[in-house]
Amino acid sequence: MFKDIKADIKEKLENIYQTELVVEASPRQKSDLAIPLFKLAKETNKNIQEVAGEIKEHLKDIKVIKELQFERGFLNIYFDRKKYANKVIDIITKEQEEYPKFKKKNEVVSIDFSSPNIAKNFNIGHLRSTVIGASLAKIYEKTGYDVIKINHLGDFGTQFGKLIVAYNLWGNEKGLNEDPIKYLQELYIKFHNEADLDSSLEDKAREVFKHLEDGDEETTKLWQKFRDLSLVEFKRIYDILNINFDSYDGEAFFVDKTAEVVKILEDKKLLKLDEGAQIVDLEEYDLLPALIKRADGATLYLTRDIAAVLYRMRTYNSKRILYVVGNEQKLHFEQLKKVVELMGYDDVKIEHVNFGLVLLGGKKMRSREGNVVNLKDVLIEAKDLALEAIEEKNPNLKDKEKVAEKIGVSAVIFNDLKNDRNLDIEFNLEQMLSYEGLTGPYLQYSSVRIYSILKNQEIGKEKDIELYEDDIAYELILELSKFSEVLIRAVNENAPFVISRYLLNLAKVFNQFYANHQVLVEDEKRRNANLTLIKAVRIVLNEGMRLLGMSILDEM
Ligand code: ARG
Repeated sequence: MFKDIKADIKEKLENIYQTELVVEASPRQKSDLAIPLFKLAKETNKNIQEVAGEIKEHLKDIKVIKELQFERGFLNIYFDRKKYANKVIDIITKEQEEYPKFKKKNEVVSIDFSSPNIAKNFNIGHLRSTVIGASLAKIYEKTGYDVIKINHLGDFGTQFGKLIVAYNLWGNEKGLNEDPIKYLQELYIKFHNEADLDSSLEDKAREVFKHLEDGDEETTKLWQKFRDLSLVEFKRIYDILNINFDSYDGEAFFVDKTAEVVKILEDKKLLKLDEGAQIVDLEEYDLLPALIKRADGATLYLTRDIAAVLYRMRTYNSKRILYVVGNEQKLHFEQLKKVVELMGYDDVKIEHVNFGLVLLGGKKMRSREGNVVNLKDVLIEAKDLALEAIEEKNPNLKDKEKVAEKIGVSAVIFNDLKNDRNLDIEFNLEQMLSYEGLTGPYLQYSSVRIYSILKNQEIGKEKDIELYEDDIAYELILELSKFSEVLIRAVNENAPFVISRYLLNLAKVFNQFYANHQVLVEDEKRRNANLTLIKAVRIVLNEGMRLLGMSILDEM
């Protein structure tokens, strides 16, 4: 709504004046929109008052505008609050959780996210990719794109040679089946310790890895088992987070598709021999050389990623691929982008959606050091904390355990998405589970509060919309009408946090409204107006939370 009116005004004036104009929300001016006129006055060589007068004429038949006022260089636009509110409320009431509806774009966006490495812990770092990626997928879908969610599993590489050697020497099925990932990690560590004493182990691992590359049956079977068992563990986490993928084709899937990549690079004369290895020289683009094939013939992470780009273009007809991966792979994705471009595929857009670190007490969380936090444990602890809060605040709640899990998981998700993804995030469970402040529970609680008011009420059709002229009520309406603009910003900047910030503000304004207004008043029409308004707030709050990946609750 808001964005449409803004765009209409902008377009109309730009057509008349043939120059770019700013039409912006202006909380500081206390109007609904403001147009700075300095530039236009200068360009048209007119007195600024005169320009203001002209524009007032041009805009006078836009129905929703009630008043136009020139003030210190700005033309302030005031909407007819009743008319505007009525429109906003009507649309939300009609579209419900589909609000705001977007047109289908017929464009496929692939989102490569989560993508953990098998036989290794899914740690808190992978959580960021998972949470950000899953939210982006929902935001893209909401705004009209077709989305393919890809889990590009790290299921290939020389480490599997080592793992298989270690397993054959020291492992057994029983141990493996008990706690697969933990067991495999321990075997991996043992391999390295032993290899320090006996270097022939490394040679053996290389040999076994070669077998794996060549598709040897025995070796592949074992690898498959490691993969399957790891995936079962990962899926447990995805279930808790309520996330699914369209594809789990990981690196291994692309191994036999790298031959074509090498061939194209050869044909285009892009390959160079460097100490036996094949590389693409990227010096003129200020990038380190892209390693395509090692001296021993093995392909690399990058080669498999190039093959994956071609596959995604062809299989999904996807011309845009997002990679939600931490900052430490910045160079990798720059190389990928460049090589794909040099190969001649210039209509595919590769975007590295990077993000900051997860800090624990101000320090980086690492997987190889002491301060690893296992994600499953974290989610369980979050749930326990939520349960404590319920016991204190609402001990008679039904399904306490289930609700606690939803609060806990949503709190972790929101903590990850509440700030610009490029910033590091602090991981403090107590803080993120607080019912006050910039937290998930705060948002959920605001929605629950509305539900509890609405629960036993019928909302009649006739409503006294004069109520919406009141400052706080109108502020709520304005916020609600800005939802589509917020979603567009979120999608354009790959930034779920734009939605988080919006929701926090919406909840704040709602809570102000609630503190200052009695909702369940005697007067039926007024009551209807109140209830309709808060119901609209709940719709938008819930839809926003859903887009972030949070759970929506009726009670907590
Ligand atoms: N498995 C990698 C890691 O955990 C991330 C893979 C990201 N996706 C990709 N297509 N390279 O570091």
